[in-house]
Amino acid sequence: MEQYIIKGGTPLVGEVEIGGAKNAALAIIAAAVMTDEEVILENIPDVEDVNRLLNAIEDVGVTVKREDRHVVRILGKTLHTYRVDYEYIRKMRASYYLLGAFLGKVRHAEVALPGGCDIGSRPIDQHIKGFRALGAEVQIDKGVVYANADQLYGQRIYMDIVSVGATINVMLAAALADGYSTIENAAKEPHVVDVAIMLNSMGADIRGAGTDIIRIHGVSRLHGCRYSIIPDQIEAGTFMFAAAATRGNVLVKNVIPKHLESITSKLREMGSAVWEYDDAVRVIASDEIRSTHVKTLPYPGFPTDMQPQIGVTLGLASGTSIIIESIFERRFKYLDELVRMGAQVKVEGSIAIITGVESYVGTEVTAPDLRAGAALVIAGLAARGYTIVDDIKYILRGYERFDEKLRALGGDIALVTNERQRTEFMYRAV
Ligand code: EPZ
Repeated sequence: MEQYIIKGGTPLVGEVEIGGAKNAALAIIAAAVMTDEEVILENIPDVEDVNRLLNAIEDVGVTVKREDRHVVRILGKTLHTYRVDYEYIRKMRASYYLLGAFLGKVRHAEVALPGGCDIGSRPIDQHIKGFRALGAEVQIDKGVVYANADQLYGQRIYMDIVSVGATINVMLAAALADGYSTIENAAKEPHVVDVAIMLNSMGADIRGAGTDIIRIHGVSRLHGCRYSIIPDQIEAGTFMFAAAATRGNVLVKNVIPKHLESITSKLREMGSAVWEYDDAVRVIASDEIRSTHVKTLPYPGFPTDMQPQIGVTLGLASGTSIIIESIFERRFKYLDELVRMGAQVKVEGSIAIITGVESYVGTEVTAPDLRAGAALVIAGLAARGYTIVDDIKYILRGYERFDEKLRALGGDIALVTNERQRTEFMYRAV
């Protein structure tokens, strides 16, 4: 089993390069199979979730050639089935983007229904509502979503809830529908915009992505393109909070500062200095972390994917902070692990009340999900003594070379797979 072992107490200092956005890459890979021409994707992150989706499309016949770690060539022409089995959805829920991609391309899709996951129940009722509005017949039978349409017709679609996945999935199908569609109450995340721009570079006609109303004029076909994926705002935010929690000074490179505005704003409230450049931000931590209040919201609000990272940092603040998690109902599980490191926390439903402590004390903790796992690594880096983070498979799903990047910033962390390696780390000459 793989674990991270961390010796805490060293401020992170230096520079880190951010990779391509995982949540943009997953949707863009699905969009790439909507044409029979070659699509070349650059700045694609080498993380498990992305590699699993590439495996899934290869298994349905798509030709995938990895030119290098971050460039992949995709040819959808060789697709031979439009069915995605549960084994892929179980391992990688965003395979459901193939529903919208296949429905748009060939008017047929069979994709296993994604289950819930570690952060909450993850319904797809709004995805299905959008497909039906476009004229598709959608049935669920034995855990598989069957979507069929003789033709897809543009339609006005109002999302009952702001949903990244539903906005993107419906946009994929509508791009090749006949006529005009509008998606109202649309998600505005940077990766929603990235998918729209990439579809337009394939010949789609999509306007308004990044606002509440996305207007789509369906086209008859899409062509190939070469596209570079935006930097990952959540990976960037994770390193920004790691700098603050360890009282460090880190230049986070290859970012789009506008995508980080809510994160920057909260870090400044908490006492850090944040300098913004064209494609980088520098976080200079203050010795004293100030408490604050935060509520997770759809973009441009504070991201739910950054909630564990700010939670861990607020656990070291002077004073009491309040976090309201408004998106997912089971996203506070990491706080149970943080209490084992000495945090003082009270959770009431979607509200966490955190009373800051002087320092955490290292111990063995378990990563309950992707972002919580990364946050517990931050806690270990800030803690006194040694911390072992179990179940890091979650972290590997969304962070490329996480321990390597942290070591380059002075973080004392190693990926270990057995007792001997753990002992060597703890008793090595330092
Ligand atoms: C995407 O999930 C991200 N995943 C999540 O990141 C992220 O936390 C989430 O957006 C919110 O920003 C990917 O992009 C692959 P939603 P998604 O649909 O699309 C409810 C990570 O760490 N809802 O915006 O599944 C839903 O239950 C992951 O990288 C419905 O009720 O999230 C939630 O309460 C974790 N019906 C809210 O909407 C639906 O049909 C927002 O979910 C769809 C969603």
